[in-house]
Amino acid sequence: MCGIVACIGTRPAAPLLVEGLRRLEYRGYDSAGVGLLRDGKIETRKRAGRIDALAALLAERPISGTVGISHTRWATHGPPTDMNSHPHLDATGKIAVVHNGVIENHAAIRRDLEARGETFVSDTDTEALARLLGQLYAEAGAHGEAAFLEALRRALRRVSGAYGLAILCADCPDAVFGARKGSPLIVGIGREEHFLASDVNAIVAHTREVAYLADGDLAVVRAHDFEALRMDDREATVAVSRVEHDAAAAEKGDFPHFMLKEIFEQPHTLRNALRGRLNPEDATSVLGGLNMTAAELRGVERIQMAACGTSWHAGLLGEMLIEEFARIPCEVDYASEFRYRNPPFGRNTLFLAITQSGETADTLAALREAKRKGARVLGICNVVGSSIAREAGGGLYLHAGPEIGVASTKAFTSQVTALALLALYLGRLHHLSALEGARLIRDLENLPGQIEEVLAQSERIRAIAQRFRGAASVLFLGRRFNYPVALEGALKLKEISYIHAEGYPAAEMKHGPIALVDERTPSVFLCPRDGMYEKTLNNLEEVRARRGPVIAVATEGDREIAHKAEAVIPIPAAPDHFAPLLANVALQLFAYHAAVALGRDVDKPRNLAKSVTVE
Ligand code: M6R
Repeated sequence: MCGIVACIGTRPAAPLLVEGLRRLEYRGYDSAGVGLLRDGKIETRKRAGRIDALAALLAERPISGTVGISHTRWATHGPPTDMNSHPHLDATGKIAVVHNGVIENHAAIRRDLEARGETFVSDTDTEALARLLGQLYAEAGAHGEAAFLEALRRALRRVSGAYGLAILCADCPDAVFGARKGSPLIVGIGREEHFLASDVNAIVAHTREVAYLADGDLAVVRAHDFEALRMDDREATVAVSRVEHDAAAAEKGDFPHFMLKEIFEQPHTLRNALRGRLNPEDATSVLGGLNMTAAELRGVERIQMAACGTSWHAGLLGEMLIEEFARIPCEVDYASEFRYRNPPFGRNTLFLAITQSGETADTLAALREAKRKGARVLGICNVVGSSIAREAGGGLYLHAGPEIGVASTKAFTSQVTALALLALYLGRLHHLSALEGARLIRDLENLPGQIEEVLAQSERIRAIAQRFRGAASVLFLGRRFNYPVALEGALKLKEISYIHAEGYPAAEMKHGPIALVDERTPSVFLCPRDGMYEKTLNNLEEVRARRGPVIAVATEGDREIAHKAEAVIPIPAAPDHFAPLLANVALQLFAYHAAVALGRDVDKPRNLAKSVTVE
């Protein structure tokens, strides 16, 4: 949530920062601002609204300089106004701060500073930090980098909460300062220029050499080099690594929206998730990144997962796959609930954190709680070098490339695939036969081609979505492996179209939600020809008996369903456990086309942000 970009070098900073912010806009789009340091002075420009509004302001009132910080905001403390936009200044205007995260004791700091005569100009928690830093720097009685760093350390010792920070000090014209605790911060290493960013996508057009800061690290970034320090003045150890993808991977290309691009990328990203991970000879998978021996994995008696949103839905489907194929008891919790429960951990419990971004605050906290309880912890992440990827003892990367659309699509498919690979591996360590293992491998290999067939239905799905776009509420119903996809289909529709939607187990519906059914409330039934087909059809009839319109996602060639539904979305025949992945792609398209038909801002739905780094 929120995005930070800072740069120092020889090129004009303002256009570089605005371009970086545009690449980060999916992180927050309530307001944006830049601050540039030149001739011993800091100048800022800040605007509520999208980056375009900031760019227009800069065109009207340009600022020049080659050293700057910038921020795109997802509002936490204070509404999205010009004043609440970052950067925030100290009382002298010599220090400017952009901040991701939350300063939890900001109210106490504010009271204290106000008692000493400071007048705050914003409602934000960040201003408390900027002003505190200014006070401590003034108290130091000295100027320059060493004094500033000391003041920064003292300030950070006084604040509680989470932060990723980029800071300018007018007395230090050759440096941008960074600090990280609980919110990601990366140093980008360019030629005669260096960057600080909350996300590699902001800077990958300029450099693919990056250093990931760890919690408790400070950074002094200069045009020609950078220094990473610990809070206690020790030198920090940061390794430089190379970003896997280039800038084009984070661009829309010919697609009108990132979400549509990412939906259409799925055959490719799924192949990437499988590449090198199938061993047909032994009918198993190859999962080197787990950093666990076969003996250790064979000893796992229970799997506990935690995740949020779409990743939680992937976990729910993964739970079913692991129980089905590996016969290991498995459970997925909402990370936000898990972290405050007091779950007993058996000695042989394996904990999995499932996350696209690897930065979701609740999932990170759940992982830390599991570690504290002594569990072996793995991450299933997309973003390389993310906090969860680094804090887990091992895991699986999704290799899905950057996911920019706020609505998660390709990550879900790859997460389920990764969990299916884990189910296969664990299954083969237990009772799963070579024949069953080989069948699962074939099923996985068939998936990319089958997804292509679903994608070919996009126009048909668009017509159906247009027909039903006026619905005030839509139910999504499925059973067994299709239940997680009913939840995910409902989430997708509501988050980007703002149509109310509810996902439910199809048979559970009659215990309450059936009261919602009437001729204006469509129900999307997930009813491929699987082991639950007849049962699901009974539930479908219950809806029809109450005049509820039905949209069926069904196996192609199913004639029976054609008579029972107002609209049918056909998906290729697939085994019970993987048909939901195909249905899910159809529902992603359904949500996308409904949102476009309603004129919604598909990639930046209201109130949301990619990667929820606050609690
Ligand atoms: O990055 P993560 O996978 O941890 O994110 C979890 C959720 O915030 C995310 O899936 C969210 O629900 C998406 N907006 C869903 O489309």
